[in-house]
Parts: sequence; structure tokens; C-alpha cells
Amino acid sequence: MRGDFHLTLRAAAIFMKNLKWWQKTAVYQIYPKSFMDTTGSGTGDIVGITQKLDYLQKLGIGAIWLTPIYPSPQVDNGYDIADYTAIDPAYGTMADFENLISEADKRGIKIVMDLVYNHSSEKNSWFIESKSSRTNPKADWYIWRDAKADGSAPTNWRGIFGGSAWNWCEERQQYYLHTFAVQQPDLNWENPEVRQALYDAANFWLDKGVGGFRIDAITYIKKPAEFVDGEPDNKDGTVAIHKMTANTPGILYFLHEFKKKVFDGHDIFTVGEANGVAAEELNQWVGDDGVFDMLFEFSHLTLAFTDGEIWCYPRKWKLTEFKKALSDSQIATKENGWCPIFFENHDQPRCMNHFMPEGADSIKAVKAFARILMTLRGTPFIFQGQELGFTNVAWDSIEQYNDISSRGQYELSLKEGFTSKEAMDFVHFFSRDSARTPMQWTSGENAGFTSGKSWLPIHDDYKTCNAEVEDKDADSVLNFYRKFNAFRKDSEVLMHGDYEELLQDDENIFAFVRSLGNKKIYTLVNFTPDKVSFDAGFLNKAKKIFGNYSTTEKGILQSTEAVVYEEEF
Ligand code: NOJ
Repeated sequence: MRGDFHLTLRAAAIFMKNLKWWQKTAVYQIYPKSFMDTTGSGTGDIVGITQKLDYLQKLGIGAIWLTPIYPSPQVDNGYDIADYTAIDPAYGTMADFENLISEADKRGIKIVMDLVYNHSSEKNSWFIESKSSRTNPKADWYIWRDAKADGSAPTNWRGIFGGSAWNWCEERQQYYLHTFAVQQPDLNWENPEVRQALYDAANFWLDKGVGGFRIDAITYIKKPAEFVDGEPDNKDGTVAIHKMTANTPGILYFLHEFKKKVFDGHDIFTVGEANGVAAEELNQWVGDDGVFDMLFEFSHLTLAFTDGEIWCYPRKWKLTEFKKALSDSQIATKENGWCPIFFENHDQPRCMNHFMPEGADSIKAVKAFARILMTLRGTPFIFQGQELGFTNVAWDSIEQYNDISSRGQYELSLKEGFTSKEAMDFVHFFSRDSARTPMQWTSGENAGFTSGKSWLPIHDDYKTCNAEVEDKDADSVLNFYRKFNAFRKDSEVLMHGDYEELLQDDENIFAFVRSLGNKKIYTLVNFTPDKVSFDAGFLNKAKKIFGNYSTTEKGILQSTEAVVYEEEF
């Protein structure tokens, strides 16, 4: 029997060697506009990121995903790109960027760029040329269609930020499609010249030495062969574009080509943002025959949406749905593939407010999420501020919100007949600005983020919730992240172990076990503010290694308690 264990461990050790660098490390996502301002402009910059590399190294991360830093009118905070191979002067220069790569490299950290290839900015020279006539060389680089006979938009599709997904262009006397904002026209991937231009831009960044790519909104690049009206899902007669164009058959042809012409042969990782890909399809997208290394799949984050992307009518979700969503992707990638584990990013509410019950202790709750993040199988993605325990903001009026999507969804809620108070409640729950408030470095002026006027208000908890204070507190969320990240890296069980969900039907507790050879690591989290009990037979021989309460009783979990147990047999 013991011999078997040794064999299993030896096999695991061989496998361990085969893990790629990006599987062994955690990735940190930076929203550069809100990270660190060194010029007093009120927005963060590349030099600011370089200055904070030591902080990130101490956190133990091995890669930084930067949301877009290319020249952009900033209608969607950089997800509207005017030039794919340059740096927005607001963030600095190409020399600053090259210096960031080299300084990060000295600390064992890679820089990962965001590729926004479903659409560009309307200010991109490609679009300016495309819209100038129906016959120019780039006339077919975007999605142009004639009006319906009555002059209305070609279809009733509603853009993700609200309103029609079509916009009229006087010069061409045609409509163009925009999945997101009017200022973000969709590129025409059917045109090989467009695809080649996009691949060339990605190769430009590879030549600079980047360590990978996050690929934005990729499930929207392939449009259906015919553009037809959909069944309205809204009182204004529109249907969410997502239902009509996401993950259209044929998309993988483009993505295999993308992989071959750009990613293959480089020691990088790719992670696609793939809303609309179900767990059972994951194998076609990731793993040996897939197109990306990892996929951001959103089923655990969209549980509160009643329908597509609409914020109105937030639905009450059950814990079993959340657990199933996570377990499905763990299981789907078990033999082949790898998951990015994520609960926050720049588009999501803070996880404490998103998933934990009202009244929960916020420090305990964010630490509980950190435990799940670090013990599931996959690469943990930490979004800036998550390691400090940031929570949502709830500003009084919609005018205080910068996020284009918050404004669009607010209008949509009013049109649906909700009061402005109700519409603001939706904004408070879902707004992307909650993730975008500036980093809180110190208890000093503007939380040490800027010496000027911050582009977005700073959360009013910054005097107690900041990197300086938390660095000195051994029990802080920050120090917890540092400790647990280091623990994960050294744990063969967490790197390679199998995943199994426990207490599957329990609506209060998320419990799972990771097993390898003669070792098991159990994670148990109480998602309620109450004391709950469970049958703890399986924990008989297990020893607690981490918890957010000083004392723990097997079979009982206190309010938002999270415990990690280890067992060796
Ligand atoms: C997804 C990005 O994460 C989000 O911030 C952006 O608004 C849309 N894609 C459009 O690019």
C-alpha cells in the first residue's frame, strides 16, 4: 500500500515538473487608471506600476495582467482602442513600458496585455477610413449593413451597454454594428486582412517580451451568417445581442488560426474572456486541442442576472447553483485543460458584496473567498484591491458614476418602470465602478494614489483599509494573501490534486477536497451569517491548517467561517 503511495507521489512529481510557469503562480490584475499616479494627473500610470513591483513581488504573484493601456478616447476606459501598437500618453511612453517589462522580469514577474479584438474605437484610423465611403480599401473592415425598408436599424439587437447595437453613419448611409458602446464599432473578422492586422499587433507585443494575453470579449467575434430580428426580451422591443451573436459556430476556425499565427511556439499564456461558453464546451477551447490556455467562463458570476446582461430584476441565486458552476468547470478541465480561478475583475462588484450575505463580517468574508481562490484547481487571479479586502461603493446619484455600463443600465431600469431609487439600488449592486476605485496605498491624502484630483472618488474606508496599514498587521487580509499564496505554491496537492465537491446539496456550505497520493486538503466555507452544522465524519483525521476564527469545532461553522484542513494517511 505504502509503495503505491510512493509511486503516485513519484508520478505526481514528474507531472509537477511539467506544469507551466503560469499554472504554478498567481496572476494579479491591474486596472492602470486606478493603480498608482506618479504625475499628479489623477490617473494612474506605467511608472506607478513599476514603483509598486516590490509590493507585488512580496504578494508572490508571477504575472500582471494590465487592462488596456493603448491610445484610447477612454469611452470605455481603454476598451476602445485607437491604436493597437502604441501606449496612451496618459499612461506614459513606450520606453516606460519597456522599462516595466525589464524591471518586472528582474522580480520574476511577466507582463500580460489585454487584446480587445472584437471592436476598436471609432477614433481608430481603420474605422475612420472604413466609414469614409463604401469603396475605400478598408470599407469592409467593420460590419456595415443597409437600413431596413423603413429606415430603421437592420435588426432589433440591443448592445451590451443598452440601446440599439446599430448606429447610423451619414457618410456611408449605412448602419454599423457595435456590440458594446456606439464608439466601439465591431471589426469584421470574416475579412482576412483584418485578422492579419490584429495578429500583427499581437506579435508586436510579443516582440516586446510580454508574457501573455488576455483576450477580450472573444466570443462575439464571429457573427451569424444572416442577421435577423430576435424574440424581444425587453419592453422596447429589443433583444440582447448576446443571445444572437455569442459563440456562433465557426468561431473556433478563427481562433485556431490566431493561435497558429501568434501564440504557438511562445512561452506565454493566453486567457480568453468567453462569456457564453458552457462548461461542456470547455474542452474545445482549452487543453491540448483548444485555442487558449485558459478561459474566463462566467457562469458563477452571472447568477444574479435574470436575463443576459440586464441589471433590472436581480434574481436570488442559490448556493448550490454557485457551487455547481465552479464544480462544472473544475470537472470539465480535469483531464485536459486548466481553469483561471477568479471572483473579481474590473467588471464585477467586489466579491464580499456580490456573494456574501448582508451583515457578514467583511474581513472574514474576503478571507473566506481567498481560501476558495487559492485552493481550487487552477491559476488564481487576484484583482487589485482584492488582496486588501476592498468592498463596493454606493454613491448617491448616477452622475457620480463614470462607468458607461452603469449609466446605460440605469436608463434601462427607468424605461422598465423602476423608480430612480430602485435603479440606483441596481447600480449599487452591479456597478463596475466598485471595482475601479483607486488603490489605497496609505492613510494619507488621496490614499497615496495621487497628489492631484483622483479621476474616480476614493473609497471612504481608505484610512483603515490600505496597503501600509495592512502590511504591519499580521492578521490583515494582505498578509493572509501573502501567506496563502506561498502555501499554494509549495503544495503539490493544491497544484495537482484532484477536485471533489463535498456536501453537494448543502445550501449554506461550500466544501471540497483536493487529493493527491496520501494527502488531502479540505476547504469549507459557510456562506451564511449564521452558525451552521454539518456531518463532519470525513474530517475525522484532518487537522486545521488555516481558519478565520481562532477556534474551530468540527461539524460546526460559525458566521462566514472558512476553514482549510489537511489530512495525511
Ligand atoms: C469586457 C471588458 O472586460 C469590459 O471592461 C469592456 O467594457 C468590454 N469587454 C468591451 O470591451
